[in-house]
Amino acid sequence: MKSAILFSFIISRSSTILLLPDVLINAIYSFFEGLLYFACGIDVFGGLPVSNDSLTITDNRTGRTYELAINDNTIRANDLRQIKVDADDFGLMTYDPSFMSTAACRSAITFIDGERGILRYRGYPIEQLAEKSSFLEVAYLLNEGALPDQEQFDRWTDKIKNHTYVHTNIIKFLEGFRYDAHPMGMMLSAVSALSTFYPDAKNIKDPENRYLQRVRLLAKAPTIAAFAFRHSRGLPFVFPDNDLDYVGNFVNMTFSIGGRHKPNPVLQRALEVLFVLHADHEQNCSTSAVRAVGSSHVDLFSAVSAGVAALYGPLHGGANEAVIKMLDEIGSVQNVPNFIKEVKEGKRKLMGFGHRVYKSYDPRAKLIKRIADEVFDQTGLNPKLKIALELERIALEEDYFVSRKLYPNVDFYSGLIYQAMGYPTDYFTVLFALGRMPGWLAQWEEMLLDDDQKIARPRQIYTGSEERPYVPMEKRKTSVTA
Ligand code: ACO
Repeated sequence: MKSAILFSFIISRSSTILLLPDVLINAIYSFFEGLLYFACGIDVFGGLPVSNDSLTITDNRTGRTYELAINDNTIRANDLRQIKVDADDFGLMTYDPSFMSTAACRSAITFIDGERGILRYRGYPIEQLAEKSSFLEVAYLLNEGALPDQEQFDRWTDKIKNHTYVHTNIIKFLEGFRYDAHPMGMMLSAVSALSTFYPDAKNIKDPENRYLQRVRLLAKAPTIAAFAFRHSRGLPFVFPDNDLDYVGNFVNMTFSIGGRHKPNPVLQRALEVLFVLHADHEQNCSTSAVRAVGSSHVDLFSAVSAGVAALYGPLHGGANEAVIKMLDEIGSVQNVPNFIKEVKEGKRKLMGFGHRVYKSYDPRAKLIKRIADEVFDQTGLNPKLKIALELERIALEEDYFVSRKLYPNVDFYSGLIYQAMGYPTDYFTVLFALGRMPGWLAQWEEMLLDDDQKIARPRQIYTGSEERPYVPMEKRKTSVTA
C-alpha cells in the first residue's frame, strides 16, 4: 500500500514537471517526497540510516537532502556524485587545486600534526629515532612497519650491501653528462635509467620482486649520487666498499681521493641524522608524484624518478639550495631588515620558511638547529649562519610571518650544514633525495597493496571554448598582438 502511494507520487511528478519553473517544482516535490518516504517508513535521506557520524547536505538547486557518511573526519568525495540536478547530470565534484583538503589515501606510515609540530614514523617520535636509530634501521621501520631486532637488521643490512654496485653501463651513461650538469638532473635520469637495467621490475604484482627492486634502489642510490658528485668535479668514481656502513660508504664514495679520506664520526653521524629526518613526510609533493606515477603500474624506478623530479623544484627539496643562494644575496646581517621588508611587500620569498602542513615550528628544523651546533664545532662557524639566525629572529617577531604561521622548515638550516660538510650547493637536494628514498619505497608499496587505489586521475572543470568549426590556415586572421 505504502509503496503504491509512493509509486503514484513519483509518476505524477513526471507529468506535472513541465508546468512550473524547475527549481520550484523540485523543491515542492522534494518536500512532499520526503514526507512520503517518511510516511512509508523509509528514511528521508534516500533510505540511508541517519547517523551522528554523517553529514547532511541540502542541494538548494533541487531542495533534495542527502546524508553522507563521515569516517576518520572525512567524507568520500565520490559520495557527492549522487547529488545531481537531473538524471543526465554527472554529479557534484569537489574543486581542490593543490589538494589543500583532499586525503588521497589511507596510510599507516607517517603521522604529522602540523599545528602541534609532531612527526612520527610508524608511531615513533622523530626526536627518538633521530637520537637512537641508524638510517638503515629507519628505512626498515618505514618499509616493514616495525623496528628490526638484531637478526632482522643484520639480514636487511646484508641484503642492501649485496646490491650497492651499479652496472658499468651506468657509468658510461653518467659520463655522457656535461661537466656542469646539475647533479639532481643526473640523479633523476640515472634512477629512471635503472628500469632499463632491471626489466624484471615491471612485474609489480609479485611481492618478492617488489621487495628486490626496493632493496636494489635503496642500495644503489648512494652509489649513483656519489658518482654524480664525482662527475661534477672531474674525479674518478670510487666504488662501494661493503665493509663500511651505509652512510660511511656514501661519504667514502664522495670524498675519498687515493683512499686517504679520514671520516669524521661527528659529521658522519650528523649526515645520518639528517637522512633520518628526511626519510618520510607522508603525502608531500614528491611522494604524491611517486604514488601517482606508480598508480599506472609502471616499475619502481620510473615511479621514484618522478619523485626525484618533484623534489628538484625550489618549492620542495630544492629550497635548501635556494636558501644558500638567498643568504649569499643578502650578504650581511645589516641587509636583513631590508630583505624582510621586500618579503613583506611581496617582492621576495623567505626561502626555507613556511610549510603546507606545519603551522608551527617544523620539528625537524628544531633538531637540525641542534645538529648545526655539533657540526660547526668541528668545521668552524659557517658565516652565513649569522644571517640565517637574524632572519629567523626578525621573522618570528613580524606580524607578516606570525599571522601566516610561517616558521623555519627543514630546509632553512640543512643547507648550511651540508655546505660546512663540503658539499656544493647544487648537491644539497641530492642529499635530500637519499634521505627520502626509504619513504618513497614504503609509500609505493603501500599504494600498490591498497585496494582503494586505482590509477590516479583527477577531474577538471573545463574552461575552454565550446565546440567550434575548424578554420583552414588561409582563412585564419593573424592577431595583432601575436
Ligand atoms: N616567504 C614569504 N611569504 C610566504 C612564504 C615565504 N617563504 N611562504 C608562504 N608565504 C605567504 C604566501 O605569500 C601567502 O600569503 P598571502 O596569504 O598574503 O597570499 C601565505 O604565506 C600562504 O602561503 P601559500 O603559498 O598559500 O602556502 P602553501 O602551503 O601553498 O606553500 C610553501 C607552502 C610552498 C612551502 C611556501 O611556504 C613556500 O614557498 N616556502 C618557501 C619555499 C620552501 O622553503 N620550501 C620548502 C618547503 S619544506 C619541503 O618541501 C621539504
